[in-house]
Amino acid sequence: MLNLVPKFMTTNPPLINTRPTPSIRLSTDRLVLRPTKPSDAVRAFEIQSDWDVTRMLRMARFPPSLNETAGWFAEHEAEWLSGTAYRFAIECQDRMIGAVDVDEINNREGELGYWIEKSSWGKGYAFEAAQAAVDFAFNEVGLVTLRSGHAVDNPVSGKVLVKLGFRAEEVTEKASRSRCEDILHQHYSLGSAAWATRPPPT
Ligand SMILES: CC(C)(COP(=O)(O)OP(=O)(O)OC[C@H]1O[C@@H](n2cnc3c(N)ncnc32)[C@H](O)[C@@H]1OP(=O)(O)O)[C@@H](O)C(=O)NCCC(=O)NCCS
Repeated sequence: MLNLVPKFMTTNPPLINTRPTPSIRLSTDRLVLRPTKPSDAVRAFEIQSDWDVTRMLRMARFPPSLNETAGWFAEHEAEWLSGTAYRFAIECQDRMIGAVDVDEINNREGELGYWIEKSSWGKGYAFEAAQAAVDFAFNEVGLVTLRSGHAVDNPVSGKVLVKLGFRAEEVTEKASRSRCEDILHQHYSLGSAAWATRPPPT
């Protein structure tokens, strides 16, 4: 078929050839997002030892294992350098309160995830951190689509995603490692064009 769209009229943002440096810091009004480091495993283990946090994390083990958590954090720098995942510790007043990441990066698509210690819930931190991570994914990494999702019994996470402009898609059954059972999972996606033209926050 004849392609009538001239090459320069591409709807995708330009592919960014230089990978973001691991010394990057993303600052928001109240938070600093910095690439994770291996020593963060201890804080992550503490936060994920809370069932109310980890039951919502489909890929996490409960109770967590410090060894396994340390092994996972040890891989983050290599993932960052290869451009397959960008994982940030969320710091509030120099204390790690959670993490936000964009992983499973392939073909200019990635998956957004986040978790916050329970004592810091309800203060808008997840939204603030996720907003910075989405902006990073589209504007620094050059992704065109972000996917995300949550267990259907986790509507607070859905609020974060909808506020960011994610659109709900299908609900499917997925295995939850933390719960050791299948759960219903609500899928979402967000494109870079929608992000660039989103209305200003109210
Ligand atoms: C989901 C999670 C990250 C949200 O973090 P958070 O910092 O509390 O979220 P925010 O404060 O940004 O709140 C987002 C929205 O949810 C609302 N909210 C937060 N806690 C709530 C609660 N307990 N009940 C009802 N609404 C709540 C907020 O009011 C806000 O909505 P609004 O903008 O309409 O006011 C946090 O609950 C968490 O870490 N849960 C466990 C791990 C997890 O679920 N990760 C996501 C996996 S998909």
